[in-house]
Amino acid sequence: MNGDGEPTAESLREPEPPEAPLRPLAPGDVCQLTDPRGHHHTLVLESGKVFHTHRGGIAHDDIIGSPDGCVATSTGGTTYVVLRSLLEDFILSMPRGAAVIYPKDAARIVMAADLRPGSRVLEAGGGSGALTCALLTAVGPEGQVVSWERREDFAEVARSNVTRWFGAAPGNWHLGIGDVRDAVSDGSVAHGAFDAVIWDMLDPWECLRAAANALRPGGVLVTYVATTTQLSRVAEDVRAMGGWTEPRAEESLVRTWHLEGLAVRPDHRMIGHTGFLLTTRRLAPGTVPPARRRRPAKGAYPTPAEPDRSS
Ligand SMILES: C[S@@+](CC[C@H](N)C(=O)[O-])C[C@H]1O[C@@H](n2cnc3c(N)ncnc32)[C@H](O)[C@@H]1O
Repeated sequence: MNGDGEPTAESLREPEPPEAPLRPLAPGDVCQLTDPRGHHHTLVLESGKVFHTHRGGIAHDDIIGSPDGCVATSTGGTTYVVLRSLLEDFILSMPRGAAVIYPKDAARIVMAADLRPGSRVLEAGGGSGALTCALLTAVGPEGQVVSWERREDFAEVARSNVTRWFGAAPGNWHLGIGDVRDAVSDGSVAHGAFDAVIWDMLDPWECLRAAANALRPGGVLVTYVATTTQLSRVAEDVRAMGGWTEPRAEESLVRTWHLEGLAVRPDHRMIGHTGFLLTTRRLAPGTVPPARRRRPAKGAYPTPAEPDRSS
């Protein structure tokens, strides 16, 4: 302000944003190396180690201490761009036990389940831990992720991937080994405590009761299934069970593009199919939603509002 109380050019200037702190690459960082042909290699930096390529080795110590986004040269003279991995890169390169949820679907799950810092999420099966990494990132340190996986060998892969990505097993993550239905029914998983439940398994309809018990009223259930027959079964079972909102199904397709000079067109190859998401929300105990005002489609289960008159 000047002496007359009017704003000056100085007082109107936008404050400079603070500079992002520079974090040189350090032991434990997950890095992606990209060679001149665009091939990616993922490694976790460790003092004294050498990353071997068929174009010679690169000592991790030559990378440690360099800025993110540097170039490293192998003993054979090939250059590699070195960047800290994005979660998307890490998921696509991580060792797998069970098939992983692809980043495009993990991103949709985070939005469909309305995950935010502080959210509490229950997921099963943990599989390779790919979705777990996305869930933990979305809910932040003030949130909570509880994962159940019934195969011990897969749980080990999940634990190793999550630990590799976060540098240590996050304190707000619990990985239980066993069937999630047993964990909910014996009280190992708290009832009514979760904002969201995510099922990625062959038969999610078998776990609807467990999801209903684990969710708070208004909480979101997202199931990920690979086939239309699974999608149909889970939707019909959600409706037949009651206490849920009308389920919504979706699929996302991501098409990457080739961008070079005048050759700007969709890439020839894409990931054509991964899976479907079915989303529904838990109603308050005892709530009966108004009957749907449409005739059931062929093959739909009869509901009390629309009794079966076929026999
Ligand atoms: C496709 S994988 C999950 C992949 C995981 N979402 C990821 O992104 O890495 C399915 C997993 O569900 C587990 N599973 C199936 N039914 C289960 C249940 N009722 N309780 C716990 N785990 C279950 C299977 O053992 C399998 O590892």
